Amino acid sequence: MSVLRGKSIVLGLTGGIAIYKSAPLLRRLTRDLGCDVTVVMTSSAQEFMTPLIFETFSGKEVITGMFESESGIVGTRHIDIIQRADLVAVIPATANILGKITAGIADDALSTMLLVAEPEKTIIAPAMNKNMYLNTVVQRNLQQLRELKYHIIEPETGELATAEEGWGIGRLPDEKTLIFHLEKAISAQKKSPLARKRILITGGPTREAIDDIRFISNPSTGKMGIALAETAAKAGAFVNYISGPTTLPDPTGCKTQYVVTAEEMKAAVLDLYKDQDIVVMAAAVEDIRPINPSEGKLKKDKIPESLSLKKTDDILLQLGKNKKDQILVGFSVEVENEVTNSISKMEKKNLDWIIVNNPREKGSAFATDTNQVTIINKKHKAHSLPLQSKVDIAEAIWQTITKSKD
Ligand code: CTP
Repeated sequence: MSVLRGKSIVLGLTGGIAIYKSAPLLRRLTRDLGCDVTVVMTSSAQEFMTPLIFETFSGKEVITGMFESESGIVGTRHIDIIQRADLVAVIPATANILGKITAGIADDALSTMLLVAEPEKTIIAPAMNKNMYLNTVVQRNLQQLRELKYHIIEPETGELATAEEGWGIGRLPDEKTLIFHLEKAISAQKKSPLARKRILITGGPTREAIDDIRFISNPSTGKMGIALAETAAKAGAFVNYISGPTTLPDPTGCKTQYVVTAEEMKAAVLDLYKDQDIVVMAAAVEDIRPINPSEGKLKKDKIPESLSLKKTDDILLQLGKNKKDQILVGFSVEVENEVTNSISKMEKKNLDWIIVNNPREKGSAFATDTNQVTIINKKHKAHSLPLQSKVDIAEAIWQTITKSKD
């Protein structure tokens, strides 16, 4: 369940073209996540969109003025609203509002309210023309805000609002990324045990070439790995995610690296291993590879009747051997004797935890949005979780393994 559920949020809107993305964001917060959102608009914001749409989606009057009036701040209301809020988010934030915050200027409702808000609960999502964004003064202001511990949602590089602007940095990220950062800011207030931990997660399949076109692989898509990576990043961990081939987007907030073969995955994992606090091997590393892959595309009449195969290196076995202080977590795919077989794997590979899933169970393991797993600790205590979304499973795994080492 999202940590945003039922939270009280102040959503500040400033005058940038990206404001059109704030309307569906507000609707998601209020309608889907049950947040109580107070919208504050600057006068420039009102040039782009009228308060009416935000009033409709928030179910509340939008604050547009400084002084006592129908939609203005009454008395110390701006202080009360900010103090009651769990988060204050300025989405989108113009260069102008960044300048005002860093200079301590309070000349309208939003800038006044931002002066009351603690940086730790304030999120700022700059979005503007690329030249404005790259301007030294804007960059200096942003750096200062980062140092003051404001949460900054970095803009993306992509197509900008107008044809003249073309391609460049300054674009407001999509709704999923914005929600990710709001959730991350709430999690930071709760001080998750994953905060600042260095975590390496693998996901997806590997592919072992028969020729340049054909390969041996398995049905893994990387959904479980991505769910683990995103939930850890949201809780404030520094996540390296190593993925086999997948069509899914990168997990938000993680450093993602792509590999194809088991050998490439092994090299990438070993390269990062010694600096990690926790390593979770959720990848379905292919166990076999053709010994002599052919170059180019084998013509049908040249395809051999049988292939000579070799086992790939067991990455997790190697990690278990090299283990120092890392918490090592393996996944186990079993279709029978799940717990007993997984305990043997855990011992053989020197793991702290093993998570078993059975692809024969409906809605479990490969390529599904859900999973049903059993988490086993070093003392062989098995804890089965009910079938649920991979995101909820990921959260339950983090909760379990950070609560105790056994
Ligand atoms: N694993 C690995 N390297 C391999 C094969 C598997 O690191 N070459 C890891 C997987 O990422 C997983 C764990 O080992 O975390 C268990 O994988 P699984 O396929 O369930 O078991 P195997 O060890 O391959 O044994 P078996 O196929 O006999 O069940």
